[in-house]
Amino acid sequence: MSLLLTDSSHATGVNLARAKSELRSALTEARAGGCSIGLVPTMGSLHDGHLSLLRAARAECEVVVMSLFVNPTQFGPGEDLDRYPRDEERDLALAAEAGVDLVYAPPVEEVYSEGFATHVEVEGLTEVLCGDPARRGPGHFRGVTTVVAKLFNTVQPDVAYFGQKDAQQVAVLRRMVRDLDFPVRIESLPIVREPDGLAMSSRNAYLAAGDRERATALSRALRAAARSAREESLAAGVEAGRRELEAAEIDTEYFESRDAESLEPVTELESRPVLIAVAAEIGGARLIDNVLIWP
Ligand code: PAJ
Repeated sequence: MSLLLTDSSHATGVNLARAKSELRSALTEARAGGCSIGLVPTMGSLHDGHLSLLRAARAECEVVVMSLFVNPTQFGPGEDLDRYPRDEERDLALAAEAGVDLVYAPPVEEVYSEGFATHVEVEGLTEVLCGDPARRGPGHFRGVTTVVAKLFNTVQPDVAYFGQKDAQQVAVLRRMVRDLDFPVRIESLPIVREPDGLAMSSRNAYLAAGDRERATALSRALRAAARSAREESLAAGVEAGRRELEAAEIDTEYFESRDAESLEPVTELESRPVLIAVAAEIGGARLIDNVLIWP
C-alpha cells in the first residue's frame, strides 16, 4: 500500500506526519479502499520489544501506522520526562526497516492544544499496582488512556498492538475499549527479553553496569515464582520470587499475584490466567516485569 504525503517523506523513506490533518488525509484513501489499518503506539527509543509489535502489525495489516510521542501527561512530577531517551532519526530508520507505512510524530501542542481539559479515566484497574495511590497514583494511567483514546480517534485503526511487558496498561486499555465502544481490536504480544532475561525497556539505558546485572534478578524471581506456583502453589510461588529479590537486595514497590484481567488479588491458581507482576527501582530506573500463568 503506498500512501501519498506531500512533502512528508523523510530521508529514511518512511512517511512522516506531524499534524493530525496530514495523518488523516494520508489514511483517507487507504480507508476508502477498505485497507486494514494497524496502529503501534510508542514513545520511541525503539528496541526489539517495539519491533516485535511492528512485525506483527506488518504481518496482519495492509497499512501500518506507528505513533512516536513521548506523552508528557503520563509522567508524574519528579519522573523521567526530561531525561527520557529520544532519538528520532534512529527511530524513523528502524520504523522504515520494519516496513512501517506512516509514522505519526506530533509535537506536544498538536496533541494537547491550549485549554486542553478532557481526560479519559478508567476506574479501579488504575488504582492498584503501578497506579496505587500510595505510590505512583492513577494519574499515570489517565495520561495513557487519554493519549491512546486520542490516537484511536485520529488514526481509527482496526487493530492496535501493545506489549504484555506493560500488562496493567493492556488490561486498562482493554477496559477502555470495551467501556467506550472503540471499534478497535487490541492485540497483546509477549515480552521480548535480553539474552540474560532482562525485559527490554527504553529505561534500561539508565542502568550502570552493576545495576544492569542486579536487574536480572527481576526475571529470575518471576521464573522462580512461576515454576513454584505451578509445582506447589501460587502463594509458594510468590514467596519464592520475593526471596530471590531479597537475595539480590532489591527493594520492590510490589511483587504480587493478580487476576490478569480484573487485576484483583488472587491467592490460588484456579480457572483464570494469573499475572505475577513486579516493580522495583534499581539504580534510579523504575523497572517493571511480569509473567502470565495460564491455568
Ligand atoms: P513505550 O514504553 O514506548 O512502549 C510502546 C509499546 O511497546 C507498549 O505497548 C509496550 O508494552 C511495548 N513494549 C515495551 N517493551 C516491550 C518488551 N520488552 N516486549 C514487548 N513489548 C514491549 O507504552 C508506552 O510506550 C506508552 O504508554 C504508550 C502506549 C505509547 C502511550 O503513550
